[in-house]
Amino acid sequence: MTSIAETHEIGSIELPAPEWDRATPLIRLLKARHSSRAFSTRALPLEVLSALLWAAFGINRADAGGRTAPSAHDWQEIEVFAVLAEAAYRYDPATHALRLVKGGDLRPLTGTQDFVGGAPLDLVYIADFGKMSGANDEQRTFFASADAAVIAQNVYLFCACTGLATVVRGLIDRRRLAGALGLPVTQRIVLAQTVGYPAI
Ligand SMILES: Cc1cc2nc3c(=O)[nH]c(=O)nc-3n(C[C@H](O)[C@H](O)[C@H](O)COP(=O)(O)O)c2cc1C
Repeated sequence: MTSIAETHEIGSIELPAPEWDRATPLIRLLKARHSSRAFSTRALPLEVLSALLWAAFGINRADAGGRTAPSAHDWQEIEVFAVLAEAAYRYDPATHALRLVKGGDLRPLTGTQDFVGGAPLDLVYIADFGKMSGANDEQRTFFASADAAVIAQNVYLFCACTGLATVVRGLIDRRRLAGALGLPVTQRIVLAQTVGYPAI
């Protein structure tokens, strides 16, 4: 192993081959992570959905209510909505349950690309600006985007680990989707993410 001091370089540093041994499982997932836009219509078992939602933004430290993804100021302002064929739900991490938001199939409204209506699950990341105390609207938008993005990466890694296909999406008609979900103005749609089995 070489330290930066031993290279006697302060300019560009040519990096040696990565030392991956201690991080092998993570490296395998990072190598596998990619976006997919072709999905099977096959439904996700509830057990898979359960694990996926926990990985996305579940509680991983029972004592402090800490989550699987970091959030600015620990606001934990991102609500993960699961839009399924039957209905749209809000994931409640505290009880690890899905709470009904709206019945009916809203999947086609979660994006402007045609695959969103056929895949079994569209996650929608919604920032509750009301939880972001002391920030102005510009700061709220900035931090909510970052906070949603790290959740999306959790989902990418979960999918890489379990053989699921996924793509995070910004192409959303937000006004239309917010209306369909009945969101108050303080709840802002940040990103969506489609998940399903790969198309055969
Ligand atoms: C913030 C963000 C928004 C994105 N929005 C879309 C989108 O609306 N539709 C889409 O098909 N892909 C979208 N993507 C996926 C990118 O196109 C994709 O990550 C990029 O092409 C690199 O491919 P890879 O993820 O396979 O490495 C988005 C990615 C990010 C990070």
